Amino acid sequence: MAKERSCWEIKDEAILKELVSLIGLSAEEQGLLGSLAPQAQQVAAQMTEAFYQRLNQNKQTAEFLEGKSSERMQATLNGWFVQLFSGQYDEQYAQQRLKIGNTHVLLGLPIRYPLAMLDVIMEFGEKVAAQSAKPAEASRAFRKILALDVAVFNQSFEDNQLKHLAQLVGAERLARMLLTGIA
Ligand code: HEM
Repeated sequence: MAKERSCWEIKDEAILKELVSLIGLSAEEQGLLGSLAPQAQQVAAQMTEAFYQRLNQNKQTAEFLEGKSSERMQATLNGWFVQLFSGQYDEQYAQQRLKIGNTHVLLGLPIRYPLAMLDVIMEFGEKVAAQSAKPAEASRAFRKILALDVAVFNQSFEDNQLKHLAQLVGAERLARMLLTGIA
C-alpha cells in the first residue's frame, strides 16, 4: 500500500504559495514581471488574435466558442495574459486562476486543448520579456509564472476528477490511490 503523501493536504489557494516556492519564483523575478505590465498590454491583442484564430480553425475547438461573444472572449483572455505580468502572485491571484480552470472544467473541455495553446502564449510572453532591460532574466521569470499557471489550471481538472471519484468511493485518499492504480 502506498504511503500517505504530505502534498495531498495542500489544497485550493495554498497550492499557489507551494508552487511559488517549488518553482523558486523570487521577489526580484516577481518585480521584473510586474515591470512589464505595460508591454504585456501592448502585445496582448496580437496574442488573443492568434489564439482564437487557431481555436476557430479547428472544428472540435471551434464548437466550444459557438454563440460566445468574440469581444468578450478576447477581453477575458487579454486580461488573463496581462495578469501574468501583475507582479502580485497572492491568494487572490490563486483564487482567480483556480476559478478560470474550473470554468473550463464546467465546459466539458478536454485538458489537451488548453495545453495545446501554450506555444501561442509562450511566443507572445517571450516577446514581452524581450523588451525588458534584463531580457534573459525576464524570460526565465516568464517561463516560471507560465509553468505555475499551467499547474494551477490543471489542478482544477484533477480536483474535479477527485471530487467525483471521492464521492463514489467515500474518501479522497482512496480516490487518489485508485487514480494512481494502487488500490
Ligand atoms: C491556455 C489556455 C486558455 C486560457 C488561458 C483561457 C482563458 C480563459 C479565461 C480567462 C476565461 C474567462 C473565465 C472566467 O471568467 O471564469 C475563459 C473562458 C472561456 N474559455 Fe478559455 N482559456 C484557454 C483555453 C481555452 C480553450 C482551448 C477553449 C475552447 C476550445 C476555451 C474556451 C473558453 C470558453 C468557451 C469560455 C467562456 C465560458 C463562458 O463564460 O461562457 N478556452 N478562458
